[in-house]
Amino acid sequence: MSPHKHHPLTNPAINILWRSSFDVETKVFVGQGVLSRIATVVGPGTKCLLLRQPREKNEAMETISRELSKQGNEFFEMVLPDGEACKSSNTLLSVWQKLQELGFGRDDAIVALGGGALSDLSGFVAGTYLRGINLIIIPTTLLAQVDAAIGGKTAINLTFGKNLAGLFYFPKAILVETGMLATLPARQLSSGLAEVIKYAMLEQTIAAETEYRAGPVSLLELLENELTDQNIHLNPICDGVITSSIKMKLAVVAKDPLEAGLRRSLNLGHTLGHALEQASNFALTHGEAVAIGLVFVTGLSSRLGHLDPGAVKQVEKLLTRVGLPIRVPASLKFADIKKSLLHDKKRQKDEIRLVLPTDRLGKVDYSYRMDNKELSEQIAAFLEASV
Ligand SMILES: NC(=O)c1ccc[n+]([C@@H]2O[C@H](COP(=O)([O-])OP(=O)(O)OC[C@H]3O[C@@H](n4cnc5c(N)ncnc54)[C@H](O)[C@@H]3O)[C@@H](O)[C@H]2O)c1
Repeated sequence: MSPHKHHPLTNPAINILWRSSFDVETKVFVGQGVLSRIATVVGPGTKCLLLRQPREKNEAMETISRELSKQGNEFFEMVLPDGEACKSSNTLLSVWQKLQELGFGRDDAIVALGGGALSDLSGFVAGTYLRGINLIIIPTTLLAQVDAAIGGKTAINLTFGKNLAGLFYFPKAILVETGMLATLPARQLSSGLAEVIKYAMLEQTIAAETEYRAGPVSLLELLENELTDQNIHLNPICDGVITSSIKMKLAVVAKDPLEAGLRRSLNLGHTLGHALEQASNFALTHGEAVAIGLVFVTGLSSRLGHLDPGAVKQVEKLLTRVGLPIRVPASLKFADIKKSLLHDKKRQKDEIRLVLPTDRLGKVDYSYRMDNKELSEQIAAFLEASV
């Protein structure tokens, strides 16, 4: 695990005790070495099934099994398919089957060690087996640490699309071991940073509408001043940045669990982002697509007179610095992007709801409505400018 010291501007490793409006308490630990807390969150006498990705055995897996066996927990492992293949009904069935064979009861626990695909599947399994057994998530990608593992959304994919079956289910604990980012490929680090930059662009709105409190230096300034590339795991601000992102998401989800208002703000950059991800047939990672989406909405807002034009350059500079794209790849066709937009869940009849940065970076309007035709024209203009 990579050594990095805590930055004076940011928090040290944190403990958050978060109670959702579903009245579930989730303990969240962030930092290096938090994995050693696994035994305390699982408790003695609990059987554990570790669900993991088919990667080589590593220090994290050894720490988990060592700590649990010290406490005398019965411990089992199951290796699931990698990436999206993990979120299939076949995998779901095979894990249900395994839990039955092992005689798991309600007080036993699933420990999910992996990226967002694995935590989505694990949450679905844990929420449905016996109508809910204990779940501990150990997210191993940056995207999962700041987003996918946080907020209670679980999902599997169906034949006709991604995330078509799911439920809200909250884990008992989330252990965010930041040292695990050391083995993550650069492209995955960049992808996770797109979501972090999104949080930075929401911070003031979230602080104004929830219990989240920004630090003396805004997340945006911190990233602009301290982050020179995507290697956040080598940067002293790492734990603080991840902590702030998690706190923002938890605060938003606590205020609006079912996405009736404020939670929509988390879709900043995602309207065009999702359409690009689909039109590229997932050749663009989620974060890469969101990055382009962030540039689009920032530019749109400045053209509409809601934001200083300098903000666009500011966002572009930060995204570029961490290895993210800021223009639509020439290989993507407008017709395909438009087709994907038609399936957007935020679309209503003739208009679509957009999250628009307003006033200054850090603030958004999450109820902005735009005529579908105008949005298409704006996207077409953005594509033209991308060439
Ligand atoms: N539930 C939610 O709220 C939510 C939010 C955002 C995304 N998601 C979902 O998350 C998924 C994407 O998550 P992801 O980006 O983490 O992708 P992923 O889970 O597919 O992981 C990406 C790759 O990284 C590898 N990997 C994981 N940890 C590693 C590590 N520490 N070192 C080296 N390699 C590692 C994995 O084996 C995999 O090949 C999508 O299915 C998406 O729908 C869910």
